[in-house]
Amino acid sequence: MTAPVLPPPVCVEDYRRLARLRLDQDVWDFIEGGAETERTLGANRRAFERVTLRPRVLVDVSHCDTRTELLGAPLATPVGIAPTAYHRLAHPEGEVATALGAGTAGALYVVSIFASRTLEDIAAAATGPLWLQLYWLRRREVLAALVDRAAAAGFRALVLTVDAPRLGRRHRDARNGFAIGSGISAVNLDAALMASAHRADPGRSALAVHTAEAVDPSVTWSDLAWLRARSSLPLVLKGILTAEDALLAVEHGADAIVVSNHGGRQLDGATASLDALAEVVDAVGADCPVLFDGGVRGGTEVFAALALGARSVLLGRPVLWGLAAAGAAGVAGVLELATEELAHTMALTGRPGLAAVDRSAVVLRKGL
Ligand code: FNR
Repeated sequence: MTAPVLPPPVCVEDYRRLARLRLDQDVWDFIEGGAETERTLGANRRAFERVTLRPRVLVDVSHCDTRTELLGAPLATPVGIAPTAYHRLAHPEGEVATALGAGTAGALYVVSIFASRTLEDIAAAATGPLWLQLYWLRRREVLAALVDRAAAAGFRALVLTVDAPRLGRRHRDARNGFAIGSGISAVNLDAALMASAHRADPGRSALAVHTAEAVDPSVTWSDLAWLRARSSLPLVLKGILTAEDALLAVEHGADAIVVSNHGGRQLDGATASLDALAEVVDAVGADCPVLFDGGVRGGTEVFAALALGARSVLLGRPVLWGLAAAGAAGVAGVLELATEELAHTMALTGRPGLAAVDRSAVVLRKGL
C-alpha cells in the first residue's frame, strides 16, 4: 500500500497530519499526550477560543514588523522553540536539524537537557540564539558540568523548569510501557544516568522512573542562589502560573519567566496557560520579560498571547511535527508559517508593530 500524499502545509496543523504518518504510535502518544485526564492539555487549546480580537482600521499596514529582542539577542520573530526532549525520536538528525530550522526562521531555540544531540553539535549548527533548559538534577556536579559546557558552547541563557519535581502521570505512556529506544539517548548526561529511561516495563512509563531517579524534588527557592553563583548566564524560570511565584522568581533574581503548564503534561487540572498570563505579567511589571507557551497553533494565537503581555511565544509540539514531517525545513516551515500568520493578524488588526500589540487588541473572556 502506498502512503497517502498530503498537499503542502498551509497552516501549522497541516504539519501534524504529516507527522502522524511518519511516527510510531508510542512516539506519537509521547508527543501528543498530557497528564491523567488531559483536561489541562485541552484547556490550553480551548482558552484561545475565549479570545476575540479588536481590529482598528485605516492604519498603514504596508509593512508589519515582527522583529524583536530578548535578553539582548535580536530575533526575526517573537515565535520560538520550547524545550522538548529527544528530538531524534522525531527525526534522525534530531536537535541539529531543529537548530538549523530555527536559524532559517531567525527564531530562539530553547534546547532541552534531554536533547539527543550534543550541546556542541547543536551550537555548531545554530545561527541564532540558543538557551539551555535544565531540570535540577540530584547530582549537582553533573548539572554544574552542563552549565559550564553550555556557556563554553555559546548558549546565552539557562532555563530552569520548575513545574516537574516529578513527572506527570501520563496514562498513554504508562499503557504503552513507553521507553526511549536503544539508539537514542540524552547524550549530554552521562550514560549511567540514562539506564532507566531505556527499560521498557508494561504499565509503566520509563521516563517517569527516570525522572524520579534523576531529578531532585527537594529543591526550593533558596537553592537558586547556587545556580546563580555557578553561572553568569541569565536565568529564566519556566513553569510559573501564579502571581505569587512570579514575584518570588523576580525576588530570587530570575531574568525572565516562562508562563507554562508544560503543555498539560504535568499537573492535570492546572489552569490553562493563557489564563495565567495576564496575572503573571501584571505581577512582574515591565522589567522582567514574560514568555509564554501552551496550546499555540497559529499566528492569531501568538498575537493573542503577545497582546496579553508575552514578549515571546514558544511552540512545543508543533516544532516536533515540523521536524518529523521534513527535518530542518519542517521546523523552519512551522516557525515561518506562525510568523507569517502573526504578521497577517497584525495587518488585519491595524497594528503594524509589536509595540502596538497590547491589551487594547484583545478581549479574553473568563474560563469555566
Ligand atoms: C515537552 N516539554 C518539556 N519542557 C521542558 O522544560 N523540558 C523538556 O524536556 C520537555 N520535554 C517535552 C517533550 C514533549 C514531547 C513535549 C510535547 C513537551 C514542555 C514544552 O517545553 C512546552 O512547555 C509545551 O510543549 C508547550 O505546549 P505546546 O506548544 O506543546 O502545546
